[in-house]
Amino acid sequence: MIDLRSDVKTLPTEGMLRAMTTAPLGDEQEREDPTVRALEDDLTELLGQEAAVFVPSATMANQIATLCLVERGQEIVGEQHRHMFRYEAGGPAYLAGAVVTGLPGTAGVFTGDQVREIAQLRDSEHRPRTALALVENTHNVSGGRVWPLPALDDLYDTRDELGLAVHIDGARLFNASVALDVPPARITARARTVAVCFSKGLGGPAGAALVGRADVLAPARRIRQMLGGSLRQAGVLAGAARYALEHNIARLADDHANARTLAGLLAEGGLPVDPAGTGTNFVFLDVAPLGLARDAARDRLRAGGVLWSNSHHPTLLRAVTHLGHSKADVHTAATRTIRALTTG
Ligand SMILES: Cc1ncc(COP(=O)(O)O)c(C=O)c1O
Repeated sequence: MIDLRSDVKTLPTEGMLRAMTTAPLGDEQEREDPTVRALEDDLTELLGQEAAVFVPSATMANQIATLCLVERGQEIVGEQHRHMFRYEAGGPAYLAGAVVTGLPGTAGVFTGDQVREIAQLRDSEHRPRTALALVENTHNVSGGRVWPLPALDDLYDTRDELGLAVHIDGARLFNASVALDVPPARITARARTVAVCFSKGLGGPAGAALVGRADVLAPARRIRQMLGGSLRQAGVLAGAARYALEHNIARLADDHANARTLAGLLAEGGLPVDPAGTGTNFVFLDVAPLGLARDAARDRLRAGGVLWSNSHHPTLLRAVTHLGHSKADVHTAATRTIRALTTG
């Protein structure tokens, strides 16, 4: 079976397991874990920021960012389909008491003008004050699409003008930096906070971090404690994360190439896939023109030896490439997908 459902399905490689079992450990709640401290130093340098806090998941990193940056009753704006709005169980409203405004975007990207329009509308004591703009990079629901640098710079300039904060949900930040061929700091240095995740394309079993300005992150460890996210010998996970930063960033280019190959083979095989829409490691396949319902198509694919997942869209299936897939796997997956959906 070839499993293309998500890059969260990666398993630690031998090298990563070795790094986990040999990492020096201590009690991270007491700041005694040297591997966590080293990871936090690595991240501040890599992202051009001042401070970092290791957390169990990207969801927790996003929620702590919101709690650090937004007061109750203030407004968060971001692209309407972003993970924090759709898949974090209402956290921004429940935990931070924030008003969430989803903006229409193109491939996950919105503009400084859209934010300016909203923020100016809010310039009255009757309206919530717009405090935070969220960027998801790469953007999950639009198919792992990357924010072009001019769009990002436009948002940072608007933020400076309006006095807002920008948080980057960079659960797949390194896919974006590899796709753009720029250092990660080129994307993140002007953000107030950044969430990164080690358990997606980087191949770690768990773990994420919130990275940002030191003054903004001052309450972050206390909030992490409140949410139950302060681990003890967390160096086991931080060891995996440090291994991933060293060995698994540049190789994301292979995942992107594999996704392009998969999209190209499927399109050549007559399936409704748009290879131009494959920005990083995601491929979407539209089952509607095949006259199939999504679940029926997924069942046929499973019976044919390849797993796709549902997407946000009722007729689109999603495949995600990662370090567990070889080039040969991708060719086999394409053959199985075409066979399963075009015969019988
Ligand atoms: C863009 C984005 N942000 C945050 C998350 C949350 O990650 P986790 O489930 O590890 O908390 C995900 C998970 O898929 C994601 O795609």
